[in-house]
Amino acid sequence: MDLMTRSGGAADLSGRQAEIGALWRALRARAMLAPTISVLFAEDPRRAEDFSFEGEGFLLDFSKTHIDRPALALLFDLVERMDLAARREALFAGEPVNLSEGRPALHMALRAGPEADYAANGTPVMPAILAERARMARFAEDVRAGRICGHGGRPIRAVVNVGIGGSDLGPRMLCRALGAFADGPEIRFLANIDDGAFNEAFQGLDPAETLVLVSSKSFTTPETLDNARAAKDWLRAELGPEGVAAHLVALTSRPEKAAAFGVPEAQIFTYGAYVGGRYSVWGPVGLPLMLAIGAERFGEFLAGGAAMDRHFHTAPFARNLPVLLALTGIWHGSACGHPSRAIIPYSERMRLFASHLQQLEMESNGKGVTAEGAPLEAHSGMAVWGDRGTSAQHAFFQLFHQGTHVIPVEFIVPVAPEVDRVRDCDCHNKLLANAFAQAEVLAFGSDDATLRRRLEAAGVPAHRIEQEIAWRRCPGNRPSVMLMMERLDPAMMGRLLALWEHRVFVEAMLLGINPFDQWGVEHGKKIAEALFPLLDDERPEEARLAALDPSTRRLIAASRRWLGKGTSTGA
Ligand code: F6P
Repeated sequence: MDLMTRSGGAADLSGRQAEIGALWRALRARAMLAPTISVLFAEDPRRAEDFSFEGEGFLLDFSKTHIDRPALALLFDLVERMDLAARREALFAGEPVNLSEGRPALHMALRAGPEADYAANGTPVMPAILAERARMARFAEDVRAGRICGHGGRPIRAVVNVGIGGSDLGPRMLCRALGAFADGPEIRFLANIDDGAFNEAFQGLDPAETLVLVSSKSFTTPETLDNARAAKDWLRAELGPEGVAAHLVALTSRPEKAAAFGVPEAQIFTYGAYVGGRYSVWGPVGLPLMLAIGAERFGEFLAGGAAMDRHFHTAPFARNLPVLLALTGIWHGSACGHPSRAIIPYSERMRLFASHLQQLEMESNGKGVTAEGAPLEAHSGMAVWGDRGTSAQHAFFQLFHQGTHVIPVEFIVPVAPEVDRVRDCDCHNKLLANAFAQAEVLAFGSDDATLRRRLEAAGVPAHRIEQEIAWRRCPGNRPSVMLMMERLDPAMMGRLLALWEHRVFVEAMLLGINPFDQWGVEHGKKIAEALFPLLDDERPEEARLAALDPSTRRLIAASRRWLGKGTSTGA
């Protein structure tokens, strides 16, 4: 959306920019003045109810942050000022919201039902999407039932997905998260070009019973193509040249490139260029998940995502989950200025959730200029990272509780235990108790009087008590957001993932960012291509070595020495 045309001219634009600048200054000032979380609760008896929202299978509680009523009002002013309603319409209408690439961002269409009428730049997309979804379902069910077999007629027992970034992280995370529903072939993932990754992915597999899915939107990503070539060699060595094609599948928006790579047309599944890699798991990129859990459960996952789309599209902003979650992110990252945020699902199966969100959030909102190319008024999106509870408590929570950096935490807690429980244990409620306990201690800390009483009761000598309290004290006043979900199943994972995608979109709109491009990644790819021959060639060009910065030249010289390639670089 072009701010210049929307606002009607340069004078309007500068007035509008000034207002937005003033809003950010007010938000930052509010963040600096914020009372402690304990005081916020003490002064506002309705805080737990009013700073939370229940609906769509979730309870979002952001009462244990420093957002108070004036801060919330400022955040909603920003929503208004940044025209979120119009920008949301543009997204759902399939307008080219990805300005730098001139494309719509219509990942919602991949999860929509037949009643939807999404169009990209005015061209309906649903007929092609539904046809491809039906082909995928047929293929997946035929593989699962042994109707589609390997070259020698043996059933497919394993699948290796070769892809990176959005062509890896989403399906990898979901295959783990929904592992309790998996009843298909074993699914493995190969992303890195490290030999160790290849060996791990293919170790112990029989080529005659293995499908290789080459997943790449562009079908040009070097890591994926190198790994796919190596996978072809691995198949060929056992099955012969005529046996390879039956074991190759491609998931891409460039079918002609997949065909040239040797993938039979019937095994190429495509999606439109209007779907970004990190938003693509809802279509052909989700084939590993469909193979694992079956087409019906995959359909439940899609339906969950579509339900969240309806909620985001229609619910008023004050009762809109993606908007509310985004406001907490904007507050922590851009108003308070915290550089990172931890995402901690209390679920072993969700342990890769944060790594998927790292691409979703940081590739989308890690940008220093607006969609129009102007500097941002506030900090860009935050670094996000995390691991699952309770394991994370025994690894890095110490710093959350007593370190001097403040790291806002987002807890995600599926409340129902796993359906097929194999042990008789009250462990699940202990898991929940731990999640709630961490949030409580982060917000309210420990109480010196209670600590003193305990130490005295334990017989600690009086002269050591103050020191012991200093060691043990948890200062509290550290923000966290709690997102509880009814259960962990395909439908709820669909809702959760779509919720997060829209949350990232809302944050981008409030910052003025285009979340659908990733130019920052491109430059590094080109430099790696240029460095490769300097490492690999027997006699690298001296002039190119000499043109390198001194540090990189030295790294290359040391690598060549250790690879037994001589030391002609002079370092
Ligand atoms: O890292 C850049 C990127 O383009 C991601 O956005 C994308 O998910 C990944 O590379 C892989 O791209 P492709 O699916 O085209 O191989």
